[in-house]
Amino acid sequence: MATEFGHASTTDEVISGVRLDGKTAVVTGGSAGLGVESGRVLAAAGANVVMLGRDAGRLAAAVEGIGAELPAASVSMEIMDLADLASVRAAAERLREACAQIHILLNNAGVMACPLARTKDGFELQFGTNHLGHFLFTCLLLPSLVAAAPARIVNLSSAGHKLGDIDFDDPNFERREYDKWLAYGQSKTANALFSVALNERLAGQGVTANAVHPGMIMTELGRHLEPADIEILQARSGAMDIAFKSVPAGAATSIWACTSAELEGRGGLYLEDCHIAEPVSEANPAGGVAAHAQDRAAAERLWELSEQLVGERFAT
Ligand SMILES: NC(=O)c1ccc[n+]([C@@H]2O[C@H](COP(=O)([O-])OP(=O)(O)OC[C@H]3O[C@@H](n4cnc5c(N)ncnc54)[C@H](OP(=O)(O)O)[C@@H]3O)[C@@H](O)[C@H]2O)c1
Repeated sequence: MATEFGHASTTDEVISGVRLDGKTAVVTGGSAGLGVESGRVLAAAGANVVMLGRDAGRLAAAVEGIGAELPAASVSMEIMDLADLASVRAAAERLREACAQIHILLNNAGVMACPLARTKDGFELQFGTNHLGHFLFTCLLLPSLVAAAPARIVNLSSAGHKLGDIDFDDPNFERREYDKWLAYGQSKTANALFSVALNERLAGQGVTANAVHPGMIMTELGRHLEPADIEILQARSGAMDIAFKSVPAGAATSIWACTSAELEGRGGLYLEDCHIAEPVSEANPAGGVAAHAQDRAAAERLWELSEQLVGERFAT
C-alpha cells in the first residue's frame, strides 16, 4: 500500500482520522519550530503530550500557546537540556515515574551548524545534543516504551546526513579541524544509524524506531547560518533548488512516522515527504538516504561507542 501523502502534505492531513486518546506522546524540542507543531497536532488527536525543552520560559510559552488553541488538550512540560547528561538522566527518571507507558517518543530537538562548542560532558555540541543526549534519553525510557507496545520511536535526522559520516576515531573533533557542516552531518547520520540499531535491538518487543528528514523549513534552526551557508550547503549536497516547506508540512513526516497505519510494525527506515525514502541517487540529489546512514555494522559500532561515551550499557 503506497502512501497518499507527499512533499506538501500537512500535519493535520496526515493525522486526519487518527485518534490517540489514552496514549502518551513525548516530544523533545517542544519549545520551537517543528516540535511545537508536532506537539500541537498529537494533542489535538487526543494524546497526553509531554513537551521537553531546556528553556523553561520558551517551553511554557509553547505549551500555553497549544492550550490556548486547544483548551481540552492534555499538554505538560518537562525541563531537559540534551547537552547535559545529568539533566537528561533526571528528566528521564521523572518521566518514567510519571508515565508507566509511553506510546510515542519523538526525538525532535536539534542544533545545526553552530560554532565549535562542547556539551557539559565535553562532547562536540552537535553530536552531543542531537545524538548522545537522545541516545541516553531513549535508552532510559525503554521500559515505558516496551510497556506501552505497540510503541514508536521517531528520530529527527536530516538530508544533512549526506554531509558527513561518523568519524569513529574522532567523533568529538578533538584531533581534526572543526567543520560545522561535517559535524551536523555526522550528528544526523548518527540519528539515522541509531534508528537502525535501536529497531534491531527492539525486534519482537512491539517497539519500532524510524528516522525522519522533515524537509527544509525556515525555523530557528538556522540561527547560526551566515549568508554564504546556503550556497555552501547547495554545493556540498548537490541540491541546487531547495523547495522550502511550511512548518505544518515540515512536521508532517514526523507525525506520519508516529501514527501511520502503513508503518505498523515497520522500523529501521529513513522517511521523507511522508514516504519511505529511496537510496540516494543522481536523479534525486536533494532526497534519498545515503548507504552510510543505513549501514547495520556502523549502527552497531555507533551503539557501542554511544554506550561508552554516556558511561552506561543498556540491555534491550
Ligand atoms: N528546519 C529544517 O529545515 C530541518 C531540516 C532537516 C532536519 N531538521 C531537524 O528537525 C529538528 C527540529 O528542528 P527545527 O527546525 O524545529 O529547529 P528549531 O526551531 O531550532 O527547534 C529546535 C528545538 O530543539 C531544542 N534544543 C536545542 N538544543 C537543545 C538542548 N541542548 N536541549 C534541549 N533542547 C534543545 C530547541 O530549544 P530552544 O528553544 O531552547 O532553542 C528547540 O525547541 C532538528 O532535529 C533538526 O535537525 C530540520
